[in-house]
Amino acid sequence: MKAFDKLPSKIEIFEVGVRDGLQNESRRVSLEDKIFLVQGLLSAGVKRLELGAFVRPDLVPQMADTELVYEAIHQSEIKMGRAKAFALVPNLKGLERAIDAGVTGIAVFTAATESFAKRNIGMSISESLAVFRDVVTEAKRKKLEVRGYVSTAFGCPFEGKVSPKKSLKVAEKLAELGIKEISIGDTIGVATPMGVLNVMVPMLKSIGSEVRLAGHFHDTRGTALANALAAMQIGVSIIDSSAGGLGGCPFAPGATGNLATEDLVYMLDGMGIKSGVSLEKLARTSLEFSKRIGRPITSRYLQAFRTAN
Ligand code: HMG
Ligand code: MG
Repeated sequence: MKAFDKLPSKIEIFEVGVRDGLQNESRRVSLEDKIFLVQGLLSAGVKRLELGAFVRPDLVPQMADTELVYEAIHQSEIKMGRAKAFALVPNLKGLERAIDAGVTGIAVFTAATESFAKRNIGMSISESLAVFRDVVTEAKRKKLEVRGYVSTAFGCPFEGKVSPKKSLKVAEKLAELGIKEISIGDTIGVATPMGVLNVMVPMLKSIGSEVRLAGHFHDTRGTALANALAAMQIGVSIIDSSAGGLGGCPFAPGATGNLATEDLVYMLDGMGIKSGVSLEKLARTSLEFSKRIGRPITSRYLQAFRTAN
């Protein structure tokens, strides 16, 4: 059969629930609940995850306790095993905080569109790339893993449709900085599978031999899982997702949750693609967490799981 003939045999799930998932919550999520979520994700087999963001606490209050989440790791309240704990870092001040907190990896983040970059990080795209040059050099000196994000790669809340050439240029610039993993963000969930191919195939051709691409799809219009499958079919083997489908960006009006990790794992399991994540354990964690924070569940798998359990 020709369909799905290029799917990877294994997908690396990059879990963003604790960061992207919670950064936009209107109610404060306690440190205790965050620790519960992180530990549950790790117990379910998640190997790479974002634990927070070293950004301005006044702008993103939910991430203000990121240092404390890392402290919980060092005090062994959270047992990391061999898992890698990333955090967003926008500048040198963020990197200094990240290093002090003892991160194993950082993620720098910019955008394909100027208006979003300006509103999100207060910098133009080229300003952000200049800042990242120093951040990446210093992070590598400290032997940290570095990932980069290109937000609004498929559409922008302020500029509408985005030309794939624009997204490509920014991804290439991140690659020039020596970043080896670049996540391509559908920040407001407007992409469709054909759009994923239009944006990501040229990237794979241009930088695919030196960089691993990840797909970061928000599910605002219900296309995230289809987009993930499209990305996988062209050989992308890292997919970002968030437990329960939590998520959204405070600087992207209308953006809702990421692709739910449960929905992704259900599809992968059904197609015989390995992820190393236990769907049962993950679902139990997400259900309990959603109860704790009083948030309705958006993951379709979890809705079915809740009814059946
Ligand atoms: P700024 O105000 O332009 O920075 O913020 P500044 O250098 O002008 O400094 C102003 C003040 O902020 C100074 O303090 C700095 O020390 C402080 P003062 O001297 O006035 O007392 N400051 C900081 N404090 C703590 N941590 C820092 C830091 N940097 C400066 N790192 C900045 C620039 C980027 C920090 C700000 O705009 C910011 O924090 N933005 C928040 C960005 C954010 O978290 N967005 C959401 C995540 S991105 C996302 O969701 C998209 C993604 O999921 C992919 C996708 O879906 O597409 C990744
Ligand atoms: Mg996001």
